[in-house]
Amino acid sequence: MIPQEFIDEVQQKTDIVDLISSYIPLKKAGRNFKTQCPFHNEKTPSFFVNPQKQIFHCFGCGEGGGALQFLMLYDKLSFPEAVEVLAKRLGMQIPYQRVSEKDKIKTRLYDVVQEASQFFHKNLLSMEEALPARNYLNKRGVTKSTVTNFNIGYAPGNNMLISYMRKRGVTLDILEKASLVVSRTQGGYRDLFRERIIFPICDVRHRVVGFGARRMKDKEGVPKYINSFENPLYSKREHLFGLNFSKDEIIKKDSAIVTEGYMDMITPYAAGIKNIVASLGTALTPEQIRLIKRYTSNIILIFDSDKAGENATLRAVDLLIENGLNIRIVHMPKGFDLDLAAREKGTSFVKTLLDKQTDFFDYKIDILRSLYDPDSIEGKVKIAEHMLSTISKLNSEIEKYEYIKKLSAVLRVKETVLVAELRKMDKGFEKNRGTAHINRPNIVLPMAEKMLLRAVFSSDKVLAAVEKRISAEDFTHPLARKTFALILQHKIKNGPVSRNFISSIPDKEIAGFVSQIMMEDMGKIDKDILKGCILRLRSNRIKTVKERLKNEIRQAEDRKDLDRVKSLMNEFQKINSEAKNG
Ligand code: CTP
Ligand code: MN
Repeated sequence: MIPQEFIDEVQQKTDIVDLISSYIPLKKAGRNFKTQCPFHNEKTPSFFVNPQKQIFHCFGCGEGGGALQFLMLYDKLSFPEAVEVLAKRLGMQIPYQRVSEKDKIKTRLYDVVQEASQFFHKNLLSMEEALPARNYLNKRGVTKSTVTNFNIGYAPGNNMLISYMRKRGVTLDILEKASLVVSRTQGGYRDLFRERIIFPICDVRHRVVGFGARRMKDKEGVPKYINSFENPLYSKREHLFGLNFSKDEIIKKDSAIVTEGYMDMITPYAAGIKNIVASLGTALTPEQIRLIKRYTSNIILIFDSDKAGENATLRAVDLLIENGLNIRIVHMPKGFDLDLAAREKGTSFVKTLLDKQTDFFDYKIDILRSLYDPDSIEGKVKIAEHMLSTISKLNSEIEKYEYIKKLSAVLRVKETVLVAELRKMDKGFEKNRGTAHINRPNIVLPMAEKMLLRAVFSSDKVLAAVEKRISAEDFTHPLARKTFALILQHKIKNGPVSRNFISSIPDKEIAGFVSQIMMEDMGKIDKDILKGCILRLRSNRIKTVKERLKNEIRQAEDRKDLDRVKSLMNEFQKINSEAKNG
C-alpha cells in the first residue's frame, strides 16, 4: 500500500488542468475547461474540467473524478500505477508499495513479454538458425538500424522460448497468459511463434504488449502473420502499431498517416515519413480512433488498392467523420501497398502520392461511379444514397452544403432535392444519436439528495451536522447511498473530507457520480436550504418505512399473527413520534 499522506500530497501538488491538457487540448469555457471526451466517441464537447474543484466530468458518458481517475481511465492504469505517474511528474519517489494480486500478474506479464522480446531480438542478430530471417529482412530492405529501432526479432523452432523461459523460472501458466505459448491437443504446450520474424507491438508508453509474427516463405495453409491472442496486456482493437514511435511526429505535423500492415508502417518510417501508424488488419476500430484522436484530428488513410483495402477505407471514412476527424485519402496505384511503393519506387514517389491526397468525396464518388451509372435514374439514386449517408455525418453545415453542391454537379440533380434527401437522413440520425455511445447517462436524483451530498463534500462542519441526522439508507439512489457511506468511511480513515476524497474512490461508477454532483450548478446551499434538505430526506424515509410497516401489519393481520401485529404497531408508533419530533 502507498501511504495515504503521499497520495494526498501528489494530488495537492498536481493541477488537474495542467495534467489533462498535457494529454488532450482543453478550451476555456467560463469557469471550466472543455473538450471532446476521450472516453467515448462524440463530436460536441461534453467533457468538462473544473480548476476550482480539481475534477473532471463527462456529461455524455458519465466518467469523472480527480487527477488519479483521469490517469486510470486514460492510460488504463491501476490506482497505484496512476499515483506513480503523478509522483514521477512531480519528481517524487513513492515511499513503499504493496500491489494487488491482479497488478502483480500484469507487472509479471509486462516483464515476461519484454524478456521474450529481447530473446527474439538477440536471436535475430546472432543465431545461426536466424540466417534465413536476416536474409529475408535484407531482401525487404530492412536495415540493421531499423531492426534495432523496432526491436525486430526471430522466433526459433523447437519450442526454444519455452526452454529459455523455463530456465529462468517462468511458469508455463504465465507464458500462456502472455499468449506466448499454446496448449497442444496431445497435451503439453508449444511456442505460439515458431520460425517467424517477430514485430513487437508496444503501447504508447513503449511497453511491449504483444507480437506480430511473419512467416518467411509462402506456404499453402500457413498464415502469413500470427499475432498475440487477446490477453490482459494486448487487445487488437485498442492498439495501433508504431504509435509509440510516431506520436511525437504526429503531434508536430498535426496529422497521422494510417496504413494497414506492419511493413507499411516500418518502411516509410525508416525512410523519414514518421507520422505513421498501422491498424494491424483491415478495419479501423472506434477504440483505435479514440487513441489517435489524442494526438491529432487530421488523418490520412493509405490502405491497399485491392477490394479489401477499398472497403476498409470506406468504412474507416464514415467512422472517422462520425468522430469529428478530418480525413484525406491517398490512392495506391494498383498492385502496390505502401511498403512496396516506398521500397520499389522510393520515398520521393510516396511523397508525391501524399501530395495527391483527395478528400473523401472524390475517393468515394470514383468508386461509386464504377459501380453505378450516374446517368441512369437508379444510378443517381444509389450514388446519392451512399454519398449522402457519409455527408450526413459531417459536423459542419457549411461542409455539408459544399459537398451537396459537388454532388449536385456530378449527378445533375438539383441541390434542393439533395438537401431534402439529406434532411430525411439527418432526422433518422438524430433519433439514433445520443444513445449510440453513451454507456452511463447522468443519474437522476432528487434535488434534496444532490444538494445534501454536495454540501457535505465541501465542508466538514456540514458533514458533522448532517451525519447526526441522516444515514446512508435515507438516500433513494443506490449510488447516493454508497457515496454517503464512503464519505463517512473516508472521514474516519483520513480526517476531513477534502478534494482528495474523489480521487480516493476506487469504484469508477461512484467517482463518475460524485464528479457529476460536484460539477452541477446548484447555487449557494445555505443553512436553511440544508435544513430543508435534511427534513425532506427524513420525511421521505419515514414515509417509506411507514408504508412498509402498514403492509406488513396487513399481512400479519391476514395471518392472524397477533404478536407480530403488536410489535409492528409498536414500531409504527415509534416512527410516528420520531417524525413529529423531527
Ligand atoms: N494480417 C494478419 N494476419 C494475416 C494477414 C494479415 O494479422 N494472416 C494483418 C497484419 O498486421 C498485416 C496486415 O494485416 O500487416 C495487412 O495484411 P496484408 O496486406 O495481407 O499483409 P502486408 O502487411 O502487406 O504483409 P507483408 O507486407 O509482410 O506481406
Ligand atoms: Mn505488404
